[in-house]
Amino acid sequence: MARLIVEGGRPLQGSVEISGAKNSALAIIVAAALAEEGESILENIPQGSDIGTICLILRELGVKVWFDDVGRLHLRAEKLNKFQASYDLVRRMRASFYSAGLLLARMGQAEVPLPGGCAIGSRPVDFHIKGFTQLGAEISIEHGFMKAEAKELKGAQIYVNRASVGTTINLMIAASLAKGTTVLENAAKEPEVVDLAIFLNGMGGKVRGAGTDTIRIEGVSGLRGIEYSIIPDRIETGTFMFAAAITGGDVTLKSVVAEHVRVPIVKLEEAGVIIERKDNELRVRAPQRLKAIDVETMPYPGFPTDLQQPLVASLSVAEGTSVVRETIFDRFRYIDELRRMGADIKTERGTAIVRGVKQLTGAPVEITDLRAGAALTIAALAAEGRTDLYGVEILDRGYELFEEKLQNLGGRIYRKKTAEGRDLFAPRPSRK
Ligand code: UD1
Repeated sequence: MARLIVEGGRPLQGSVEISGAKNSALAIIVAAALAEEGESILENIPQGSDIGTICLILRELGVKVWFDDVGRLHLRAEKLNKFQASYDLVRRMRASFYSAGLLLARMGQAEVPLPGGCAIGSRPVDFHIKGFTQLGAEISIEHGFMKAEAKELKGAQIYVNRASVGTTINLMIAASLAKGTTVLENAAKEPEVVDLAIFLNGMGGKVRGAGTDTIRIEGVSGLRGIEYSIIPDRIETGTFMFAAAITGGDVTLKSVVAEHVRVPIVKLEEAGVIIERKDNELRVRAPQRLKAIDVETMPYPGFPTDLQQPLVASLSVAEGTSVVRETIFDRFRYIDELRRMGADIKTERGTAIVRGVKQLTGAPVEITDLRAGAALTIAALAAEGRTDLYGVEILDRGYELFEEKLQNLGGRIYRKKTAEGRDLFAPRPSRK
């Protein structure tokens, strides 16, 4: 167990390289295992424990997965030898449920535990299951596992409830090798969905319309491995924009796709931040103090729910009162921790009313979920005094080299092992 110690109160300055998109990589790594032929070589895969988890799940199913010494991920999936994913791996992360789409497509059978993931309220997989059923799978839920079987998946017209990202991805994976054409209506339009479609098409798939709300997937009889580079992470991009904003900094973000963060840019500009775009760079210059703004989270291209926490953290020191409405998940638990740092925030059902205070103050806090971890870290960088962030393993799931990148921008942030009771015990000879 470890914690991060942050000495706050310094504006971040300098430049930072944005890593590949975690959520895109998770989908594409699983999709790579659809190929019965050839090897996929994936570039720009961010290091993080979620990526490690998905690789372990695939390895357990018989896929050969390894990183080379320049960080590229290689996958060969000529043969899958198991259709059961283990609870110990799947419980760690919701995206591991993509293995169900893969197994149904490749093996016609899947036994996958109902997944866990971040503690951000109830996150069922009923939409995914409904979609698999419409593709012709027989499904039962037994002992916490989804058991699915389909002699042959058949293309179908499927309405994706709430434009769910995970459901869109899982069904694209499953439908790629199905017989006939699948039409996903009300599909998610997130850039990660588009990235997956481009990858599938490169493998020989036939996916049209990704990025709109209607995606057509014509099933093909086989796919082959290819080389591919993952898009930049728009959530990491946004997180560093808010880190610059909350600390009154001046940060240049490199290797970004500005169009993917259009709404966060507009909102930051409304709050008084100056943002300059040049090629694939964004320079983010913050004013002395941010201005209050109102924001509502929405599916892409709206303001992303994954940036709601860094946004609220930043607005907690803005001038005036902001109103932030969360429409996707129940994601306000971290606000109790921000309050411990002096924030003045009231929550009512899905709405946070943020009364800006002049200054946050350091305090020991607990990271409750991945994006909350990012929010508390940037709050700590802006706060006066020292903050100890507990639960840092959650941050390690999805941000590559987070502390190192912040240190390079002048942030005073260090990792320290947390003492545990069991450290006191000397090793004992085993009793045999
Ligand atoms: C993905 C992202 C996550 C992001 C979210 C919304 C990954 C690995 N994760 O999560 O970072 O915050 O999109 O942009 O890409 N729902 C159901 N039943 C289902 C599926 C979803 O009720 O079967 C609900 C969810 O609880 C939520 C809404 O639908 O309220 C949207 O969720 P969804 O878009 O599926 O999010 P994820 O794919 O889990």
